[in-house]
Amino acid sequence: MSEKTEKTKKLSTEPYKGVRDFYPADMAVQSYIFDTWKKTAESFGYEEYGASVLEPANLYKAKSGEEIVNEQTYTFTDRGEREVTLRPEMTPTLARMVAARKRELVFPLRWYSIPNLFRYEQPQRGRVREHWQLNVDLFGLDGIEADVEVISLAYKVMKNFGAKDEDFEIRVNSRNLLRKIFEGKLIDENKLGAAVRLLDRKGKMKPGEFEKGIQEITNKPIDLDIKEDKEISTLIKVLKERGIENIKFDPTLARGFDYYTGIVFEIFDTNPLNRRALFGGGRYDDLTSLFGGDKIPAVGFGMGDVTIRDFLETRNLLPKTKAPADYYICIKLEDNDSSAEKVISFAEKIAENLRTKSLRIAIDFTYKKIGDQIKSADKRGIPNIIVIGPEEVKSGKIKVKNLKTGEETEVTPR
Ligand code: HAM
Repeated sequence: MSEKTEKTKKLSTEPYKGVRDFYPADMAVQSYIFDTWKKTAESFGYEEYGASVLEPANLYKAKSGEEIVNEQTYTFTDRGEREVTLRPEMTPTLARMVAARKRELVFPLRWYSIPNLFRYEQPQRGRVREHWQLNVDLFGLDGIEADVEVISLAYKVMKNFGAKDEDFEIRVNSRNLLRKIFEGKLIDENKLGAAVRLLDRKGKMKPGEFEKGIQEITNKPIDLDIKEDKEISTLIKVLKERGIENIKFDPTLARGFDYYTGIVFEIFDTNPLNRRALFGGGRYDDLTSLFGGDKIPAVGFGMGDVTIRDFLETRNLLPKTKAPADYYICIKLEDNDSSAEKVISFAEKIAENLRTKSLRIAIDFTYKKIGDQIKSADKRGIPNIIVIGPEEVKSGKIKVKNLKTGEETEVTPR
């Protein structure tokens, strides 16, 4: 295409592939999801933290071989020749932040964040290229209490969204068990990560693909029929005692990241329409050692906004959208009205007065017929209207009309 036609061609209104625009109705859903996340994390005493979306690329390359680093990151070179990555997950950033201040921070440390993350994935149901993810992590405890707390918090998030136990399922496994499957059977010790990742993708593979992949990294037959160990049995028992019944051992659950060292878990929607995990997490006791110094035990999870939205939509659990305002002020001007300025300023004063009472007020400045202004309020779902004209200015009295009931009440603004 010539430069000229390129310039005259109209720009597309589509967003970039795999990312979403949030129109107000979508934003309302997003805010509801974030509010529920925040409320739940804070109810367990977790503090919020944040960081930039930009990270040096080597933060993710430190543990190489993962699909996320090789195929899914957005990486570019900046003007100062630095390799920069848009964060594909929050855990390495968090480990970096904790390692940086480990002397000053008070452990156990309970932190949460709701970052946006970027992954170059094939967009499909439940998968996009920019998503938001609740991250909940607990640093400094190596006992099972920490795993129990984090899984209980994940469960509580689901409950606070109004989910029933039969709507979702918590699946747990352990890296210790997975390690045992491959003990003494790998052609090279360094292949453990590759073996676990292969297992992680097993369910999505074509027949024979897994077996072929395994043959390339093992020299003895492997046995996938593993039984839960004491750690998993205790975890499941304790969680069941706390009333969390929808939990089960899943020997095929692997998780795609190399940094997990112990318990790993995922939460799935029981509706087959939503096949993607709602949450994923686990214990990672070595990650901070990437930055030197001692290891700090850690356990946490990430929960995506896309999958939970699909979940809430399929189950009709989304709240009704809220009107943008409580009152809509309609301005009534008479033809050749010399008092127009006074009427408008009176309307603004009334609005200001009501806003100090924490009410949400919008003013219609179209000066259309009153009927049209009321229709406009109705279309937006605003429940009450106030009409202000020369008469109201003169008397100082105003009436609030409820559009649903038709009821009118007189109010004297103060
Ligand atoms: P993850 O399993 O990669 O784990 O992601 C966690 C959740 O984020 C997934 O279960 C899914 O809900 C959502 N998610 C991931 N990728 C996408 C995508 N492309 N589109 C939409 N949703 C997505 C982690 O990221 C770990 N860092 C979690 C963690 C925190 N582990 C310990 N602490």
